[in-house]
Amino acid sequence: MNPLNHVAIIMDGNGRWGLKHKKSRNAGHKAGLNSVEKIIRASIKNNIKYLTLFAFSTENWKRPKKEINYLFNLLEIFLKNKINDLHKKNIKLKIIGIKNFSSKLNKLLIFSENKTKTNKKLQINLALNYGSKSELMNAFKQLQKTKKNLNEKNFIKYLQTRNIPDPDILIRTGNTHRLSNFLLWQIAYAEIFFVKKLWPDFNEKDYNKIIKKFKSIKRNFGNV
Ligand code: IPE
Ligand code: IPE
Ligand code: MG
Repeated sequence: MNPLNHVAIIMDGNGRWGLKHKKSRNAGHKAGLNSVEKIIRASIKNNIKYLTLFAFSTENWKRPKKEINYLFNLLEIFLKNKINDLHKKNIKLKIIGIKNFSSKLNKLLIFSENKTKTNKKLQINLALNYGSKSELMNAFKQLQKTKKNLNEKNFIKYLQTRNIPDPDILIRTGNTHRLSNFLLWQIAYAEIFFVKKLWPDFNEKDYNKIIKKFKSIKRNFGNV
């Protein structure tokens, strides 16, 4: 059975869910939060140590301003309401991506990270304003400045995922088969699961099915 440390998820399909059920994309984003909570609980039950959630990409700024504002407002309310609860559950929150939001939201994100930084049960990496290509370019540039040897070991120290093992599983919901600029380096050997269901419909049972399948896969890492 494969050990499972890290699950990364592209939580896609909120907009379509919202349009289908409530005639509003934003209603889908709200509904998606319930799935986030379910999957956090299920990750703890499965003793997973790292859960990386793609919540907003560097490309998502192309969306209508109204939708962007709604999303960040939702995040703010979620954190304000839930950070104590996450902390009590011994969960560590880390933001990957560039924190260039309103100063109010930036402060709340930093506060949440600091409050939970010594927690040990589960680390949630929330990818916010995250883009893999810009992460990689930035890491190359930083390493170049140090004049250290250009090798993998030195390079990964400049990624935003430094100190985090690579994902074992990548899940994308929403019936779309692409990576959308997510963790391109880190998923080199992840087992990839594309799920038809939209994110707000994704539940613990779907998650456990993937975990069970993952455990039985023969992972070669180039070997035979
Ligand atoms: C993913 O759901 C959540 C974010 C990108 C914030 P979408 O909003 O992309 O949902 P669809 O793909 O349009 O249905
Ligand atoms: C990827 O979903 C980003 C997140 C889930 C946050 P998108 O819905 O933005 O991806 P594309 O634009 O369809 O590739
Ligand atoms: Mg989408």
